[in-house]
Amino acid sequence: MKINVGEQLSTTVYLVPEGTKLEMISDEAAQYALNHLKFKGNLNEKFIYLGPNTDNIVVVGLGHLDHLTKDHYVQAAYTAAKVLNEQKVESTSVQIKPYGTVDEKNTLQGITEGFLQADYSFDTYKKEKTKYSLTSVSLLTDLKNAQEAIEEVRLLLEAVNVTRDLVNTPANDLYPETLANKVTDLFKDTDVQVEIFDKQALEELGAKALLAVSQGSSKEPRMLVLKYLPLGDEEPVISLVGKGVTYDSGGYAIKSAKGMSTMKTDMAGAGAMIGALHAIVSNNIQQNVVCVIGATENLISGEAFKNGDIIHTLKGTTIEVINTDAEGRLVLADVLYYAATKLNSKYIIDAATLTGAVIAALGQNITGTMTNNQSFLDKVTAASKTAGEDMWQLPITPEFREKIKGNHADLINSSINFVGAGTIFAAAFLEHFVEDVPWVHLDIAGTSYASSNGNKYLPKGASGIPVKTLYEFVKNVK
Ligand code: BES
Ligand code: ZN
Ligand code: ZN
Repeated sequence: MKINVGEQLSTTVYLVPEGTKLEMISDEAAQYALNHLKFKGNLNEKFIYLGPNTDNIVVVGLGHLDHLTKDHYVQAAYTAAKVLNEQKVESTSVQIKPYGTVDEKNTLQGITEGFLQADYSFDTYKKEKTKYSLTSVSLLTDLKNAQEAIEEVRLLLEAVNVTRDLVNTPANDLYPETLANKVTDLFKDTDVQVEIFDKQALEELGAKALLAVSQGSSKEPRMLVLKYLPLGDEEPVISLVGKGVTYDSGGYAIKSAKGMSTMKTDMAGAGAMIGALHAIVSNNIQQNVVCVIGATENLISGEAFKNGDIIHTLKGTTIEVINTDAEGRLVLADVLYYAATKLNSKYIIDAATLTGAVIAALGQNITGTMTNNQSFLDKVTAASKTAGEDMWQLPITPEFREKIKGNHADLINSSINFVGAGTIFAAAFLEHFVEDVPWVHLDIAGTSYASSNGNKYLPKGASGIPVKTLYEFVKNVK
């Protein structure tokens, strides 16, 4: 889909808040909608007039002015795009009009995003590809630098779609080696240095927890370290750490068929960090960022690790594996420790499909956040609000720092008797490996993938969460 600043065309989209005063809209037909059709302007409420004439309009509500945010523009523009595709319209102009506290740039970027969000589908494995009629959008704006503002959103959404494609790709095609190859490909011809640790390099490094999880698979693990250092390699970095379990069967603590059915997506944290880095690099953001990915399968074989095994870690801490299905925290133990001690990290953010418990706590549309540094998390949360990706904090309390302690090993990876709050238990476990570097943990088990319809403007399948939040945070943090 091409989106440009341009002329008024024969079809125009208007996005208006609830109770919009008539003089706020110039177009006659839009006024007609408001006057005669009791159009209220509720969020995503639509009025459609498409005929043979040249004054065709689609009016979509933005909801109440008092609550108006950029994300409402994304939602309403997405609704308009859906209508136009259903009606087989090929091109439209869109009135860019800021209301409330949303400025003109955010209005333009929100609307641009909404149209682009309507343009994604994962068809790689389908004979018949989805065709969208709407291919050209002309934005009516006088904003200076509008074209750059459009381009920024276009590159961001391209990166979100990189994440979606990775997460949607099944595990027969996406496993540690192929993930490493895809990432190498993605960042060739950029300033990103791609370092790949294969099994032998991981053994030499001593990443024994990652290696233990991978034991049951004939596919070898990988650790990817992607360095983007536009400020030079002396300056500290923001580390983006991802759980890249390309398939999680549960291991000997085997999942049910239902539980396993979406476990190709257990690398969504890795996918998000790769997408976020892509957005940062393509938009030429001047921040040092390093992405660290632990990639492995969690399978069963005669070589697999078992419930009750005591394993070692890169840090040297020993862990009693109470449950082989709590494998993500073992992978992250090593990659977080690597980020905390081998890179000059001033901030670490990890994203992981870590616990089913976060879905019980917060549902499918809210990411669970945890931290060892409140002011850092506050900045990430502010970024998530701008991005329209809902997040909610859970506490890490001293009680849970006690619960992770082991009997015959230093730590246990899961409680033996049910203690509840599995998401917090997991975070307390991860905290042990970040060595007091300011750290934010994002549990995206609920938000990274929708088996049925996606939230708001998000597609079914991989959502691309939390790429937009990470981009927003990295772009703005001092
Ligand atoms: N990958 C799963 C978590 C998950 C569940 C992600 C549902 C997406 C949707 C993780 O490795 C896991 O199995 N966690 C266990 C931990 C338990 C054994 C302590 C869980 O949540 O049940
Ligand atoms: Zn698991
Ligand atoms: Zn897992």
